[in-house]
Amino acid sequence: MTTPSAHSNRCSGVLAVMAIALVWSWPAAVGASSSNDEASLTYFKDVKSILRMNCETCHRPVGQNQGGISAPMSLQTYEEVRPWAKAIARAVESKAMPPWFATSHTKGHFYGERVLDQAQIETVLAWVQSGAKAGNPDDAPELPPFAEEASDGWTLGKPDLVATFDEPYFVADDIEDLNISFEVTLTEEQLPKDRWFQGVEFRVGGRDVHHMCASAYAPGEKRSFSVKGAFASNGIGCIALGAEPTMLPEGFAQLLQKGSRISFSMHYNKEAGPGTGFTDQSKLAFYFTDAPPKHKAVYDAVGNTSFEIPPQEERWRVGAAKTFEQDTYLIAMWPHAHLRAVAAKYELFYPDGRSELLLDVPEYDQEWQTTYRYKELKLLPAGSRIEASMWFENTPKRGAERGFDPDRAIVFGPDTRDEMMLGFINWAPVASHEAAPEAAPSDTRLD
Ligand code: HEC
Repeated sequence: MTTPSAHSNRCSGVLAVMAIALVWSWPAAVGASSSNDEASLTYFKDVKSILRMNCETCHRPVGQNQGGISAPMSLQTYEEVRPWAKAIARAVESKAMPPWFATSHTKGHFYGERVLDQAQIETVLAWVQSGAKAGNPDDAPELPPFAEEASDGWTLGKPDLVATFDEPYFVADDIEDLNISFEVTLTEEQLPKDRWFQGVEFRVGGRDVHHMCASAYAPGEKRSFSVKGAFASNGIGCIALGAEPTMLPEGFAQLLQKGSRISFSMHYNKEAGPGTGFTDQSKLAFYFTDAPPKHKAVYDAVGNTSFEIPPQEERWRVGAAKTFEQDTYLIAMWPHAHLRAVAAKYELFYPDGRSELLLDVPEYDQEWQTTYRYKELKLLPAGSRIEASMWFENTPKRGAERGFDPDRAIVFGPDTRDEMMLGFINWAPVASHEAAPEAAPSDTRLD
């Protein structure tokens, strides 16, 4: 599947992303200088660029972004933005938007960090207060295209291989909440030999795909649903609201064996009723690397599948730990749980007794599935231990908000109303020592 042209297309996708990164620094400066003169603030001159770099990646027409999982309304033109001006002011002032859930102590550590600086917030607020004027379209700075506009919707560029279900699946009108798996075997034509992939990108086939995950099983390997079975070494990744595609740093890749079965684990969630049915044929794109990787990456979970959360519990902690036998690079973290989860934390304990907070999400919300990908990979010396914790609230108050029964004791399970405690991690054993590589950018909004 990989041809030189496919490869160079991918590079141009990455370059487009980098081009966006280059202009990233100026919207703040524009905001800072113009906020002195509120009356002259306009959409085109002052606000468009802030929305472009921080909001439009999600607030676009359905299907155009983030693998097809998108926000309720598009905010790409003045006409689209104007009716939302007051709501936008509220959302940026309260910091509800753009959505970002890690505490500020990891500021600058992760790709795609979604935060506005104070000058940007003040510009938006002052613009709304002064009447949310359009201004002159000629004042709009030239904004780079989104990376995927150049490559048929794929943020990472033209894929080397796209896997999908054998047939489209109809999610019927009466379905509200459905977890279902599809398995496809990669053909000889699709994958003539073992390959290493550096990037993956998901694209869901409909608005009501809540999330999707994929794993690869080598020929003859059995499928099993446990933390080890499902995610050790054969996990590929997932997409859900707020999750972006992954491109591993240069020199890092994950193995895809010839004849592998790709298992798609789909979660559909919608209102039931006449006319709500839709057809899904979600896709998974692979980006191969020709050079054998120096560091073999795995997708794994620091997870717990044997907990029980009592009924009526205010704050119940479930923990899990993993010790690394050899020097390891930590590439990314992604806390995953369901309706009752209210907080998540990853802590690192070094063999010499020091400890470090890797990620703190004090208000976890399962609607948002954010992957925290290191810009500079974290080196874990042999003997390091990661402890992941998630906290769960099984109360009538949260039950009423989220639609679950707080009188039930809850155990691990696949349905939304069951729970999960999976502290996903993407890591690679260090093959040889050198400076920690920079992780490759993979999304359309960078800092
Ligand atoms: C990662 C995706 C994402 C980004 C980035 C994002 N939004 Fe949103 N936004 C959403 C989703 C999804 C919703 C609907 C769910 C919700 O309200 O939590 C939403 C809801 C909103 C709402 C409606 C809130 C209400 O009153 O109902 C506003 C206004 C909004 N966003 C503005 C913004 C602005 C302004 C930015 C940039 C500064 C932004 N968003 C960035 C995904 C995003």
